[in-house]
Amino acid sequence: MSTPQDHVSPDRVVIFDTTLRDGEQCPGASMTLEEKLEVADLLDTMGVDVIEAGFPIASNGDFESVAEIARRAKNAVIAGLARAIPVDIARAGEAVKAARRPRIHTFVSTSPIHLEHQMRKTQDQVIDIIAGTVAQARNLVDDVEWSAMDATRTPIDYLQRCVETAVKAGATTINLPDTVGYATPSEYEAMFRQVRAYILDRVPNGEQIVFSAHCHDDLGLAVANSLAALAGGARQIECTINGLGERAGNAALEEVVMAIRTRGDVLPFATGIEATLLTRASKLVSAVTSFPVQYNKAIVGRNAFAHESGIHQDGMLKNNTTYEIMTPDSVGVSKTSLVMGKHSGRAAFRDKLKALGYELGENALNDAFSRFKELADRKKVVYDEDIEALVDHEIAVAHDRMKLVSLTVIAGSHGPQRATMKMEVDGVVITEESAGNGPVDATFNCIQAIVPHEAKLALYQVHAVTEGTDAQAEVSVRLEDGDKAVTGRGSDPDTLVASAQAYIIALNKLATKRGSLNAQAQPAAE
Ligand code: KIV
Ligand code: ZN
Repeated sequence: MSTPQDHVSPDRVVIFDTTLRDGEQCPGASMTLEEKLEVADLLDTMGVDVIEAGFPIASNGDFESVAEIARRAKNAVIAGLARAIPVDIARAGEAVKAARRPRIHTFVSTSPIHLEHQMRKTQDQVIDIIAGTVAQARNLVDDVEWSAMDATRTPIDYLQRCVETAVKAGATTINLPDTVGYATPSEYEAMFRQVRAYILDRVPNGEQIVFSAHCHDDLGLAVANSLAALAGGARQIECTINGLGERAGNAALEEVVMAIRTRGDVLPFATGIEATLLTRASKLVSAVTSFPVQYNKAIVGRNAFAHESGIHQDGMLKNNTTYEIMTPDSVGVSKTSLVMGKHSGRAAFRDKLKALGYELGENALNDAFSRFKELADRKKVVYDEDIEALVDHEIAVAHDRMKLVSLTVIAGSHGPQRATMKMEVDGVVITEESAGNGPVDATFNCIQAIVPHEAKLALYQVHAVTEGTDAQAEVSVRLEDGDKAVTGRGSDPDTLVASAQAYIIALNKLATKRGSLNAQAQPAAE
């Protein structure tokens, strides 16, 4: 059986993507099984070496999605996360066993703060736990990763002892996470250098152990720290698309990959990532999680290659290297163009989707095409971004139980504003009319009346997808229900329709997460 390190030359960096585990763990970013499979397929195609597909013990849903991703993956190693608990490790082993290249990733905290306040264990007890659990994992699979949670706040001599124990018990990759995003680049590099030197001194064939960086972005240093770890001897970087992840997120995969590609002079490494798929991956993850990508986000933000000031535009027209260190096509950005209109046919639409990186099944293509026709009738110009927003919406609602059928709103300076809505719930069309303190409130009151629920609106945000007064509005809605949080995103030239869609998408996600709506649809069906 081959593990990633078998084919790793000294300058090859293993890209370990944890969008589906650390990324999905962040509040509001939950994905359905279909969405996870779509993301995993794209990660596999783009050359991600290791896909951390989930945390199998967390729920049956997590177990099933890790197992399904394991069955489908063509190239990537599929990792399942497990705490240092025998039942977790057995479950992770079961979930990844169908993969061509399975990995168990097990972790335990090593810092004094975690040992004292969270684990209530002594250092020696944790050493015993590491020896037992890594050996258990190694009996199930050949490829075992062990992580020292909160490594960066662990005394170096104890961290070295823990790592030596894990390696001797059979770990093949050692991950030293900056769990709380506290380290600086020079500290993080030094930690890797010291731990690796210790292992090389004590363990025969220690140079075959792959050291891994896993950084959180609490101080905005996740990518810088991950790159610094390479100088300290790490050869695996754990990262996520768009930097999705716990709290401030993880190191962004697209930034790590493009820093290595663009600055080969000071970062003499290589990854196996097909960079032209980075934009597509960013858009897909943003669409399925409904987490908008910040406009000025490095590499994949919509302004990342936009030049606004006169001086910059002048330089760009003379030679693009004046203000561009990477070309947009190198990361898969297609030039915004006015290519589609109301006379465009189905074949042209299909070609356009292909150029934008979408491959839809026949039904989804038909739905997207009729939405495109409606949009082209209402909007003077249809940009690539409009088509992307429209298709992302189709993907988001494809499996939904609740759908918006129609919405009419009476707004203006003399309230109260009123909304009349038709919604389909489990195949039944329901009509409701509600008043509200403003048109958005009236719209959301209709949804509340049709599908009574306890969830609270925690965020409501509106952006314009393109420019002009006929631009599509893109609305994000976040709902919180107890310990669950979900985000929905809708787009339409009408801001209120986009708002209703976003709310309904979030409700669908909540229903999927809870396994039920936690609410009853009103029986007043038409
Ligand atoms: O941040 C962290 O320490 C983790 C571990 C589970 C690897 O995500
Ligand atoms: Zn993490």
